[in-house]
Amino acid sequence: MFNLENFDIKLSTEFIGRNFIYTEEIESTNSFLLGKSVKGINGTVLLAEKQTRGRGRKDRVWYSAKGQNLTFSILITEKKYLTEKINMLNFISSLSVAQAIENLFQLRTELKWPNDILINGKKTAGILLESSSQGSKIEKLVIGIGINVNQGLFQGNFNSEPTSLKLELNHSIDRERLLAEVLNIFEENYLEIPNNSKQLLDDWRERCRMIGEKISVTDSETTRYGIFDDIDENGFLLLKNKNTIEKIHFGDVSIS
Ligand code: BTN
Repeated sequence: MFNLENFDIKLSTEFIGRNFIYTEEIESTNSFLLGKSVKGINGTVLLAEKQTRGRGRKDRVWYSAKGQNLTFSILITEKKYLTEKINMLNFISSLSVAQAIENLFQLRTELKWPNDILINGKKTAGILLESSSQGSKIEKLVIGIGINVNQGLFQGNFNSEPTSLKLELNHSIDRERLLAEVLNIFEENYLEIPNNSKQLLDDWRERCRMIGEKISVTDSETTRYGIFDDIDENGFLLLKNKNTIEKIHFGDVSIS
């Protein structure tokens, strides 16, 4: 069971995770925080030991064994972040998870566009951003993060081969320390967004080993091929083909 006291001692943030909700079981931490009944306190974090309908990108299911991993969501309601900067939150989420894993375990991480975290080519964590709007204005954004921490076995068919930190390190991980580290780093990165988004994108690029490679990008209808040229200042993937550069907004990327 998650030890709230141990977590609290290690959390050094000012606002991220200061309103902390812990629950044994819930449908989905993302769905709950997006709901109307939730007060919009910026930085609220909801952690669930088990999700009965955990969701991944592209309507996939997110499987996570009860009490072994970290499945949580962060609520963002600060208006200035919910405008053109919104995509930066996507990037700092995967970056913060990668930096926390590197700091605590000296593991080399890889970021896969748009926001998967891989270790040794296998998926260790995934992120799902969802928002709710009123009229044309985004009212709240929920960043859902699933990190495979202590799960020892993954059964079923997965779009990307999964792994956990325990499988990569051969020992169990202190979930409280890891969650506190992710949130501490997330807050630091969040505060850098207004003035330093270029550096944050550079930090993200540094961990994306697919840049410069021949890739394919698949969305629900088509597969496109080309060279992964870069990500632009808004975080879109730039796919190069001969003399043209196409901006890709979403899809699954593979080396082709
Ligand atoms: C993906 O890689 O497809 C994204 C996975 C996101 C999973 C997390 S777990 C916590 C939050 N609640 C959900 O229902 N999904 C996200």
